[in-house]
Amino acid sequence: MASESTSTPGTGERWKAHYPPYDPSDPKGFSYETVVRRWPIIITGVIDRIHRLNHEATMASRSDQSGSATNDVEVNERIEEGKGIIGKASKLKYDMARDRPMEKIENDGGLNVDIFNAELDELVKEGKGSWFKAPWLFAECYLYRLMRTWFAPTKHWNNFDPFFAQKEDSFRGSAAAVYQLASMMQELESEKEALIKEPARLEVLWDEMIQMCLWGNATDLSLLTNLTHEDIEKLQTVEKETRDARKEFILCDDSDAAWEALKSGSDRVDFILDNAGFEFFTDLVFADFLVTYTPYISRVVFHPKTIPWFVSDVNPPDLDSLLRALSSPSSFFSTPPSPFQASAVSALVSRWKRYFEEGSFSFSVPRETGYGEKSGADFWTDPRAYWNLHLDDPEGLKSLEGCAVVVFKGDLNFRKLTGDVKWPCSTPFAEALGPLRGRIPILSLRTNKADVIVNVSEDVARDVERKDEKWRVNGKYALILFCAKDGV
Ligand code: F6P
Ligand code: MG
Repeated sequence: MASESTSTPGTGERWKAHYPPYDPSDPKGFSYETVVRRWPIIITGVIDRIHRLNHEATMASRSDQSGSATNDVEVNERIEEGKGIIGKASKLKYDMARDRPMEKIENDGGLNVDIFNAELDELVKEGKGSWFKAPWLFAECYLYRLMRTWFAPTKHWNNFDPFFAQKEDSFRGSAAAVYQLASMMQELESEKEALIKEPARLEVLWDEMIQMCLWGNATDLSLLTNLTHEDIEKLQTVEKETRDARKEFILCDDSDAAWEALKSGSDRVDFILDNAGFEFFTDLVFADFLVTYTPYISRVVFHPKTIPWFVSDVNPPDLDSLLRALSSPSSFFSTPPSPFQASAVSALVSRWKRYFEEGSFSFSVPRETGYGEKSGADFWTDPRAYWNLHLDDPEGLKSLEGCAVVVFKGDLNFRKLTGDVKWPCSTPFAEALGPLRGRIPILSLRTNKADVIVNVSEDVARDVERKDEKWRVNGKYALILFCAKDGV
């Protein structure tokens, strides 16, 4: 028996798996390494960023000859607020290292405060309300929501994403892969008519597009402490031969079943997005393929996060940044494009802008949504598994029901789909979805960056463990999993 239902007044029957969640209690687990090593590095990054901006503001105001008193007051206020944020971040590092209790999320007027605090209350009752005892999934989501409370009440940092510069820098270094994919899309253009008439060739392309989009997930910034720049460049290589060679790292591949679902009759695909920059670029290329080259899909909706989340996840402003970058690649990217590449990038970005204007592409929330503002996207930044989506966000679920496929990108989405519990690795994906199973057509594209694994036979798991003991967490192995909607 792998599951149970519990009833919470007012919320209906909640389901949860019987297996325990991953948590940092095992010093050999990735969760332990995350609390001990990776989170402190991420928090230090935030401190450094604000420190640097404060320093720049001080220098700029010293050299400002205008003598404007108003400006001085504003600058000083901003610097003082910055120092306050640094103080909170430093305290968190200290508390975390000492396994201090996690404090309630202060009501900053933003999203999901009650949900985080109610979950925390439950953990406290179980004696698990501290950094080394809480389930990893909860603690990591809580961390990013807590960070938001440092910025939300300020006047000058309210709409500040402490990870924005990192996202931009990383995308800047992705020039080679961006140019390659843009050129590939340009070449496809000449074959458009033929492709539409030959579904078999389209299916081959579908496989390639899925893989391209999957490996786009290998490069999230919260994992940068594990991967070198060279590793990332290798993972971003998009040539066909490299992709073919990487197939052996895909431990389960349900692309064929997802292709059948794509042809089911609905003309809409949704993406529950993961990381900004290169990964988001690959999502847009994939979406472009679906709309421009297949006769099945005419509308793609992208779901971003509305607070800075797991370092590199897409926030609404990241779309404009990406389109801006692609509109002037010579000045944005670290390497300028060749004339052919420049025209390919330009064709791509013009089409995407048009798609956003015409509604073939859209965001699930207004693009000007401010950080932390309540919106239809709150569910994606709450700490709970997706198992009980029908109770937790029935409207959101309803909006996904009409999709041919809902693409859940990345590792965190996979952890939430499966609840981040210790499933035996051979558990069928459908089972790990709990009551979400069959309600919407789910395509999960995930490179493995956390311990939870499902849908992989014991034999395969043993074999891969022998080859690479870090296969669950180092981002080099992947899963393409699909679970159809009931009755389709
Ligand atoms: O451990 C790597 C990690 O930070 C996990 O905690 C998390 O699940 C994941 O990265 C985020 O990855 P992704 O961007 O693929 O969701
Ligand atoms: Mg991410």
